[in-house]
Amino acid sequence: MNDSYLNFVNSPFGARLARSVGLPKPEVLRRYRADQPEFGGLVALGAGREPHLLDALASLVASIGVTSVAHESAGLWVPLANRHGLMTGRFEAADSGSQGKLAALLFDASGIEDSTQLEPLHGFFHDTLRSLGKCGRIIVLGRPPESCATPRQWTAQRALEGFTRSLGKEARRGITANLVYVERGAENRVEATLRFFLSPRSAYVSGQVVRVAAGAGDETAPTFDWQQPLAGRRAVVTGAARGIGASIASVLAAEGAHVIGIDIPTARDALDATMRQLNGTALAFDIAAPEAPAQIAAALDEQGVDIVVHNAGITKDKTIAKMTEAAWQSVIDINLSAQERIDDALLAAGILRDGGRIIGVSSISGIAGNLGQTNYAASKAGVIGRVQSMAPHLRARGITINAVAPGFIETQMTAKIPMTIREAGRRMNSMSQGGQPVDVAQTIAWLAHPGSAGVSGQIVRVCGQSLIGA
Ligand SMILES: NC(=O)c1ccc[n+]([C@@H]2O[C@H](COP(=O)([O-])OP(=O)(O)OC[C@H]3O[C@@H](n4cnc5c(N)ncnc54)[C@H](O)[C@@H]3O)[C@@H](O)[C@H]2O)c1
Repeated sequence: MNDSYLNFVNSPFGARLARSVGLPKPEVLRRYRADQPEFGGLVALGAGREPHLLDALASLVASIGVTSVAHESAGLWVPLANRHGLMTGRFEAADSGSQGKLAALLFDASGIEDSTQLEPLHGFFHDTLRSLGKCGRIIVLGRPPESCATPRQWTAQRALEGFTRSLGKEARRGITANLVYVERGAENRVEATLRFFLSPRSAYVSGQVVRVAAGAGDETAPTFDWQQPLAGRRAVVTGAARGIGASIASVLAAEGAHVIGIDIPTARDALDATMRQLNGTALAFDIAAPEAPAQIAAALDEQGVDIVVHNAGITKDKTIAKMTEAAWQSVIDINLSAQERIDDALLAAGILRDGGRIIGVSSISGIAGNLGQTNYAASKAGVIGRVQSMAPHLRARGITINAVAPGFIETQMTAKIPMTIREAGRRMNSMSQGGQPVDVAQTIAWLAHPGSAGVSGQIVRVCGQSLIGA
């Protein structure tokens, strides 16, 4: 759906008016386009004491071909960073060039072991934040607090969360700020995640905390075709006829996957049209029908599948006193129970291959709750429960399971919301605007990436850092 306020305040007249009367001015977000360079510009690097992730940063900077400069407050680690081939010089505000702006700020906080050692965070971001350009990127790297050896270390690492989330709220101008906790031994597994958070693909993902876990056989860094990471893989997407599902199908196909789109028989024409465009396969099934899991398993059996995206979902909003049993039941069934039945069928028969990916679509309603959505929020919180409970069991097979939790995304589902509530939903986030289906789709593509093997059991909000449920 069109956000006319965003279009208006970004017109010359609208921008002037917004400035003079102090209206919020949401930025037009820079999103990934295949015909434009994904990475570029100058990246400033900072670090606390004894940073452990310099190899990971060196490999990232080399692989995406950006120029990096160390901030002077990182004096402590300049010799170290030079050894890792990271430096091209020291950052001065003037280095940010005539456009005056840096593309990203990366801070390695992994060596911070005590709250008294947090100051370099202040020093680095105090000096650099104003030089970060529109739609710039902030990534803070740390160690998972729960993996820390001492309470002091745990405390200091946990502090990074409040710090990064606050930066996201302060930065504005379409800038995102995210925190990546890298487990010891997972250094070779972090590149796909860092690329995602640096890229315009993560335009509407901010204030998130992601953990990258280690696994067996991680001694050498795997290599990927970063343009076609899903080549040779097969991906099932439910609810693929329109909205977010159609966008997920199209992004996964663009990354090389063969997509099998599922939708209800009444959406068959739209599903066929979407799949034709992507050279995919259309399956017209109601996922909640009792026979659906066996039918889906039979359709996929011969070639198997690598990625399952549970996107199909419905709303039937009413306060609980007015909600019929049928409205309760259908939402729970389609949004939650059907996913459980389908995964059981695919996992039991080994149709979802080892090393596979399961990705659920939850919602910030499932995190925060929402008036009139007891059924929907229960189903979406249940999706989070599935992710958390199943991740440890799937680990031995190398299968990851994660969920995205979209905030306000411009689709036919949100177009049905009454105007005043819709406008509030759009603005109550750090980006002051709704997201696009492609923002959810790109986040799912990162979770589906073969390089995301260390990311499992997690819920990533795609909500522009919504104030709701934060
Ligand atoms: N739009 C948002 O702001 C938003 C926010 C949070 C979460 N979500 C979630 O994202 C997902 C997609 O939402 P959307 O906005 O694109 O919705 P949408 O209504 O535009 O699309 C949903 C698709 O799922 C299909 N579907 C519904 N029931 C089905 C069934 N029984 N079997 C097979 N297919 C079925 C529909 O036909 C439709 O094509 C949903 O799970 C929704 O809950 C959306």
